[in-house]
Amino acid sequence: MIQIQGLTKTFGSVGGRIAAVNGIDLEVEEGEFCVLLGPSGCGKTTTLRCIAGLERPDGGLIRIGHTLVAHPETGVFVPPEKRDISMVFQSYAIWPHMTVYDNVAFPLSWGKRKVNKHEVGRRVDHALALVKLEALKNRPSTDLSGGQQQRVALARALALEAKVILMDEPLSNLDARLRDEMRIELKRLTSQLRVTTLYVTHDQIEALSLADKVCVMNEGSLLQVGKPEEVYKQPRDRFVSEFLGQMNFLTGRIAAADCVESEIGKLAVMIPRGLTIGDDVTLGIRPESIDLRRNSEEVSRFPQGEVTVRSFLGNSVLYEVRVGDAMLRVQTGDDSFLPQDSIELHFPADAWRLFLKS
Ligand SMILES: Nc1ncnc2c1ncn2[C@@H]1O[C@H](COP(=O)(O)OP(=O)(O)O)[C@@H](O)[C@H]1O
Ligand SMILES: [Mg+2]
Repeated sequence: MIQIQGLTKTFGSVGGRIAAVNGIDLEVEEGEFCVLLGPSGCGKTTTLRCIAGLERPDGGLIRIGHTLVAHPETGVFVPPEKRDISMVFQSYAIWPHMTVYDNVAFPLSWGKRKVNKHEVGRRVDHALALVKLEALKNRPSTDLSGGQQQRVALARALALEAKVILMDEPLSNLDARLRDEMRIELKRLTSQLRVTTLYVTHDQIEALSLADKVCVMNEGSLLQVGKPEEVYKQPRDRFVSEFLGQMNFLTGRIAAADCVESEIGKLAVMIPRGLTIGDDVTLGIRPESIDLRRNSEEVSRFPQGEVTVRSFLGNSVLYEVRVGDAMLRVQTGDDSFLPQDSIELHFPADAWRLFLKS
């Protein structure tokens, strides 16, 4: 539905030119919810604006459906209003002097996407029902909470009934609780409507929970594209693994086909293809993959440690554990350990990620 090849976009700046988007390839399938995830300044908004036609790319091509909408090499550039997309911004961009109804109706009543009055009514009512705002349709938009304003912005995008919706950090101005609520609401809506969505965020929870496909981006490039479970469990490199959640890192050297000699001793590890005995590696493991036990025997084959910090999180406990000179974070449902407790650590061999040390 959206196809991007070799997209580049640079901006002139005081110190020279900035490559905001540095040659990315991306495909969003029909009905797919695709999330572009990356830190601030990595080029997410620029990518979205190029797709929307608000920015002219320097190189590459963009197709929406079967239509080539941007291809600098041959001078093709379809203006935004002729692209079959709608966009939801971080700032809700709703008009304060209008009612909820009029805000949603506006893009359908004026300009290039104008439809007849009867159709406006049908679409606005339908969109307001989808976001559960029917009851408030005659309210002035200023009398709405942040979450309700965000719903108006969403309804306005939905009412356009475009092939593609682009969303740029639509939840980031909401407080934490509302954000959780709206996230679930969005998930419900988009899976019900199966509308093709490209969603931009720097929040890994949003990305993992909403996406059919996550595209991790940094410094203008795509680092990894995959299902949420894939990018979380099999991050390609250290950046991706840290950006998608917490990870503990250790250094080590591959000692045998199933063993790494690490800074906390010998560890049973599944060695991935491409790595061989003698390679220096960084080992990564997520806090929830580690299991703590009370040390049972005097001589144990498991790494021994001591709890240094215990943070109760409600549904789990985050422990900081000292193992030799290393500090590891462990997240578990077992709340029975206390600071200074001696423990042993159990690591499933397949939970480790190995990255070749550069
Ligand atoms: N209009 C602009 N003029 C100059 N530099 C820009 C402009 N828009 C974005 N940039 C720069 O391009 C890079 C990517 O920006 P952006 O796409 O907004 O990132 P993100 O949305 O991921 O935070 C940043 O370094 C930003 O400062
Ligand atoms: Mg941005």
